[in-house]
Amino acid sequence: MTPNPADSIMECIDQLAKISESPNWLTRKYLTEQHKLANEQVKSWMQGAGMIVHQDAAGNIVGRYEGQTKQLPALMIGSHLDSVVMAGKYDGPLGVLSGIAVVQALYDQGVRLPIAIEVIGFADEEGARFQSTYLGSRAVAGNFDETLLSTLDESGISLRDALMSFGLPPNEIINAARSNRDIFAYIELHIEQGPILEKKNLPVGAVTAISGAQRLKISVNGQAGHAGTVPMKLRVDALVAASECVIGVEKIAMEISGVVGTVGQLITSPGAPNVIPGNVEFTVDLRAEKDRDRDLAFLRIKEKFKFIANKRGVEITFTVTHVAKSIDCDPRLIEVIGSAISELGWSVENLPSGAGHDAAAMASLVPVGMVFLRCKDGISHSPEESISNEDASIGIEVLSEVVRKIADDYSRYNFG
Ligand code: HGY
Ligand code: MN
Ligand code: MN
Repeated sequence: MTPNPADSIMECIDQLAKISESPNWLTRKYLTEQHKLANEQVKSWMQGAGMIVHQDAAGNIVGRYEGQTKQLPALMIGSHLDSVVMAGKYDGPLGVLSGIAVVQALYDQGVRLPIAIEVIGFADEEGARFQSTYLGSRAVAGNFDETLLSTLDESGISLRDALMSFGLPPNEIINAARSNRDIFAYIELHIEQGPILEKKNLPVGAVTAISGAQRLKISVNGQAGHAGTVPMKLRVDALVAASECVIGVEKIAMEISGVVGTVGQLITSPGAPNVIPGNVEFTVDLRAEKDRDRDLAFLRIKEKFKFIANKRGVEITFTVTHVAKSIDCDPRLIEVIGSAISELGWSVENLPSGAGHDAAAMASLVPVGMVFLRCKDGISHSPEESISNEDASIGIEVLSEVVRKIADDYSRYNFG
């Protein structure tokens, strides 16, 4: 990495963004050629920072920077290397590259700490290929869900076959699980993906909690028919029924404070202009800071869809493809992140995360903390996602200060 850590991580992020399944935008999915190339690229950066690197049984890439003696418990720093479709280039890679930059500085100065540092690039946080959110971090936390192995991607390839083609035996994925004796805490630096820090004119903030999420796959079955011959009153139009469901999701989410509901994907079939849609598949993404609010929204949505099904004579079925409970960040880590931010001269903003992060999965293994970095207009999951070099530099400084504080007073953070 070049002398100025922020410039070098911004260059690395640009380089990583070129590893995509599309030449026109960034899409990097789990167990693909792009996943393999990204891991190889990150491995070389980790090795350049003096880390011993391995790819774990779930396809995560892990670099370890030993402490003053071997086998010391590690502080893990990381984020994810996979992306959504038509993604921004900072969502995930910023946290991995900032972690590498922190270790690079220690390595360049020949500094060894009373703890080890591990930097991880999780392989599948977004779940864009198999709807398998947090697959990489859940495997590390020891919570890999084996029922996922039969999930199919859009081209009908199962997760099991994709793992085998990637050279990862499916029955060994559980070996990615780590113990909290060798990792004692997890810290993630991530763009805020929202507008709060920018509105408060702050570059960084300390995350207090991560909202829980639930993802549903809905199938609406009506009756396909000729667009010209079936009278309106005799139709069982799956798309009109689905449209009423979509409006219902928005209405219910707006009625329950703290809940957000999104229909991000909707596919009609047969999808011909002169055929009444017989089937519609769509997704619902529900989030809330409090699990009980999200559960209430889910209940009301089920009732609403049942009413629509009866009124319109369609069949509506649900599949829950993902559930993640809301989690609280560890108070000691929130405090150490806050003191690092204030020592660098910034006022401390504590804020919850509406977006999900690998830290939510890691929280079942170890205490977690997150540093948020301001992003332009709060935009994310879009090619317009952007951050400034100055803020990238502040992010690395905060992360370095957090690592130093934890290492200096390790007994205070000894979570084991
Ligand atoms: O969807 C999310 O909140 C995250 O980007 N996986
Ligand atoms: Mn994301
Ligand atoms: Mn992310």
